Amino acid sequence: MNHLQFGVDYYPEHWNKNRWPVDLKMMKEMGLDVIRLAEFSWSALEPSDGQFTFDWLDEVLDLCEAYKIKVVLGTPTAAPPAWLIEQMPDIQPMASDGSRRYFGGRHHDCQSHPGYREKIIRYVTTFAKHFGKRECVIGWQVDNELGNSHGDLCYCEYCEKRFRQWLENKYENIDALNENWGTTFWSQGYQTFEEIHAPKKTASGHNPSQVLDWKIFHSDLINDFHALQANIIRSYSKDRFITHNCMGFSDIVSYYDLAKQLDFVSHDQYCEGYWKNYEETTVTEENHRQGIFPAAELDFIRSLKKDNFWIMEQQSSIAGWEIMGRTPRPGQIGLWSMQSVAHGADTIVYFRWRSCPMGTEQYWHGILPHSGKPGRAFYEIKALIQRVKPLMKEIKGSLPKPKVAIVYSYEQNYAMQIQPHHPDLHYVNHLMTFYNELHQNNVPVDFVSELEDWSQYSLVIAPFQYLMGQEQEQAYRKYVKNGGKLIVTMRTGVKMRNNLCLIDEELPGNLQDVLGVQVNEYDCLRKNDVAVTLNEQKGYGSKWADILTPTTAQTLATYRSEFYAGQAAITVNHYGKGDAYYVGTELDSTLMHHFLAPFLKELTNLPQTPAGVEITSRENDNCTYYFVLNHRDEAMTIDIPQNWTAYFEDQDSSKLAPYSYQIYFERKNHG
Ligand code: GAL
Repeated sequence: MNHLQFGVDYYPEHWNKNRWPVDLKMMKEMGLDVIRLAEFSWSALEPSDGQFTFDWLDEVLDLCEAYKIKVVLGTPTAAPPAWLIEQMPDIQPMASDGSRRYFGGRHHDCQSHPGYREKIIRYVTTFAKHFGKRECVIGWQVDNELGNSHGDLCYCEYCEKRFRQWLENKYENIDALNENWGTTFWSQGYQTFEEIHAPKKTASGHNPSQVLDWKIFHSDLINDFHALQANIIRSYSKDRFITHNCMGFSDIVSYYDLAKQLDFVSHDQYCEGYWKNYEETTVTEENHRQGIFPAAELDFIRSLKKDNFWIMEQQSSIAGWEIMGRTPRPGQIGLWSMQSVAHGADTIVYFRWRSCPMGTEQYWHGILPHSGKPGRAFYEIKALIQRVKPLMKEIKGSLPKPKVAIVYSYEQNYAMQIQPHHPDLHYVNHLMTFYNELHQNNVPVDFVSELEDWSQYSLVIAPFQYLMGQEQEQAYRKYVKNGGKLIVTMRTGVKMRNNLCLIDEELPGNLQDVLGVQVNEYDCLRKNDVAVTLNEQKGYGSKWADILTPTTAQTLATYRSEFYAGQAAITVNHYGKGDAYYVGTELDSTLMHHFLAPFLKELTNLPQTPAGVEITSRENDNCTYYFVLNHRDEAMTIDIPQNWTAYFEDQDSSKLAPYSYQIYFERKNHG
């Protein structure tokens, strides 16, 4: 892993073998050192039950060894072949309405199916035994983007069976389950675990506690599916790494758990993002265009292990399936690549080598166009590699050093998906209202889970702490007591971890004394935004209003409309050596700007830049590297501190062309 900076995802089975040496030679000349292979090649490697045809892949690996190209091998369980589906049609996942998702695309697999698991064990064992010790093989990827296309999960009888076992492990007896699920409501009491089913489509409504368990169960199931394969690989391919290509804030599987199984994390980064339905989210197109959402995903991925990572798929050209996104502007592929590096990537692998003539992804273009002849993408990437490879070697292992963290929790996210309260309320978008403001001020950000050690951060932002458990509550209390600044937002402490509402206490439950407020009333704002004033600044809160009654807290912002005009919208409470803030509504950008302004000085020493120009830094013991990234379609002049030295001396050091970057460094003075 250590000496590789650039690579590409390659599908030799899509091409005539005469072309392979041509491709590898071109790759090498471009400066690519590693390729990922075989993650969708099941039918080419086991064309019928138990008949393995590894020769062609051996030939590819021979060529890789000749060209000194390293290889990451994938296991192909994201696309089980037709013969296997014919043999066991019930591998095809069952949707929540009981219908099946059929063969013809990919991810048509149930990860619980015992027969399927047998076939996987045989395949992965044979595959890892055969290829695991090859010189060029340096690492592995299990499956591909676990959780992708499993949005509706699988509701088949095998999943139900595993769900029952999982519930029995968790609750031990049926009475405990009944209590934690609140099954007296609508006559849902169970006598035995056998009576429990997957939460398929019902005539009306669902039990929120059951659905929360179902989602957590599925995340665990996918992690178990990964472990099944990873354990085999580790025993036959020693001293090789295992990584996985994660997808930013995708939420089907907990990446916190998955990361524990990985030597390092990888991420797939498609910055153009045409497939996002911007109208439905507050992650706006503008926000995406200015690189903010991609930056947040990179920060999240780095945060999983608080370490450097790989990009396993970096967009290299036009993206598209049935419809397409825009072609990357000149310079933009390099800019996106450097943004990944700026946030902690040490290796960039491009998706894919050559645009494919067939299949669903004919228009998800590669470095080479269909013609196979180098075009703009090829030359831009080649120039980038030549320019930045020495820098990449130099900065390897350095990291951003954030002083602020945002809590990202799969379970809070699930609970909000189950009961979003407001049609437009969305967990990640709510987090992004904070991230946007921090990013626009060039504040480096980490993401943290609820129960990890936060003591290195001076500020922790914990939005929607809707589910609250004792351990979590104590961790929050301790953090503030010891001098931390904690920001929580609306709906904190409303429920217990089992998704049952807190009773017998005012909200926000046991954290009342830490936060110094009570929430006695609230308002789902539907189409009415509420006016809020913060230090004479006027703005609006949207979607939700917790009407705050301070007990010991001070009021920072006040509602100015609705019947609760004059009541507190944001408060701060001094507790122990720290401060705990409660933000009762989703703040618009004006309010957020003024709310976070007093924190900024402590959180960043990077200069301010215009919207769409980002500065991110990575540091090691000797040096800090500053990445100035212009995501805008126009040249921008930036004031650069005098003690920064431009890394690329051939480039005007203050004016950045559209979609370009400059890197600066500052040596640390150890004297
Ligand atoms: C990724 C996936 C790749 C390819 C690419 C373009 O999500 O890992 O296999 O499908 O998208 O669609």
